[in-house]
Amino acid sequence: MQRFLRPAGMVGALLALAGCAADAELDTLTPKGPDARTIDALSDPVFLVAGVVFIIIFGGTGYLWWRFRDDHSDEEYPEQVHGNFRLEILWTIIPTVILVVIGVFTIITLTDLNRYEDNAMALSVDGDTTTWEPEVVVVGQQWWWEYRYYFGGTEGLDLSDARHLPPADIVTANQLVIPVGQEIELKMSSRDVIHSHWIPALNGKRDVVPGRTTYWKLEAEEPDVYFGQCTEFCGLSHSRMRMQAVALSPADFQAWVDQQVQPAAEPTDPAAIAGKAIFESQCARCHVIDGVNDETKGADLIANAAPNLTHLMSRTTYAGGIFNLYEPDGSLDRTQLEAWLRNSPAEKPAYAEGRRGMPAMGLSETEIDDVVAYLETLGTRPSMDVVVATEVE
Ligand code: CUA
Repeated sequence: MQRFLRPAGMVGALLALAGCAADAELDTLTPKGPDARTIDALSDPVFLVAGVVFIIIFGGTGYLWWRFRDDHSDEEYPEQVHGNFRLEILWTIIPTVILVVIGVFTIITLTDLNRYEDNAMALSVDGDTTTWEPEVVVVGQQWWWEYRYYFGGTEGLDLSDARHLPPADIVTANQLVIPVGQEIELKMSSRDVIHSHWIPALNGKRDVVPGRTTYWKLEAEEPDVYFGQCTEFCGLSHSRMRMQAVALSPADFQAWVDQQVQPAAEPTDPAAIAGKAIFESQCARCHVIDGVNDETKGADLIANAAPNLTHLMSRTTYAGGIFNLYEPDGSLDRTQLEAWLRNSPAEKPAYAEGRRGMPAMGLSETEIDDVVAYLETLGTRPSMDVVVATEVE
């Protein structure tokens, strides 16, 4: 008996400790939007039923083991019986009924999750009022997420090739900014391998597949930041492919749109001007900055294989959402950004051949300073609330 108690105690303690995280970012059991609630409304009762079944089966097995144990005090076999018609019927019918009921509710839930609302919100884009049917085009890539906003809608646009998407009104990376209380339809694809989009507080997982468009949706009830993670193994830095949904009030979302549709401002500081020249000669093959190398010009290059940097400073994470752009006091985390520019593969593992992720650019320390000076001019810094709420570990 002693033999079993110790491991049983350890397993029990492990299970209890595993439930201890007070503020688990990827907790699937605290839904914050209607879609996640739909899933929760199914999984809660299923877990409850499964728990009751678990207790009955394991309790019953334990009881039988204890009650009918053989202490070898005699050599006689216990009475041998074969079959019990009534019991067998019972333990066939009860699980069948349970599974059919769960099956029906699962199909209802799946149908709900795959139904898309025809909603619309008024939005001012570049001074013109337009009606946006909230949707975002999502591109998964090794190892980060791109979010593209087409405020005129995507009907008639060719989204079949994630490598050559039509120019969008707003392109951002790793942080999906959405208005609260709106169902946002996601039209998702991949540039390379299969990824899976998962922001657990807002909805479940859906695969992102090259050459195919998959549909998903998100809706946040409250302005907040919801953490997510690629959840399909996609290569070396799969675990470093994170994202966040930043849900804003409609007014804040409009203010964000107003900023994001602006092209990059022309730098005035000498270091930033030098940094821009370095960007144009070294970085512009992969990164786009609107107003410098627009998407249309870059289409034949490797453009869009790396995040659009037009409003880099308005985001708070980079490199697949694994580094904070800002310190907790709101100042730029220069040390990390410089390390990234100096030798990215050392900061975030990519393939040895260097065909994925940002290569080590071989910039001198002065050039790195200049590039940082230029990057600092790109976009409006977010509020301290956003800096704090989006901080990654
Ligand atoms: Cu992308 Cu895992």
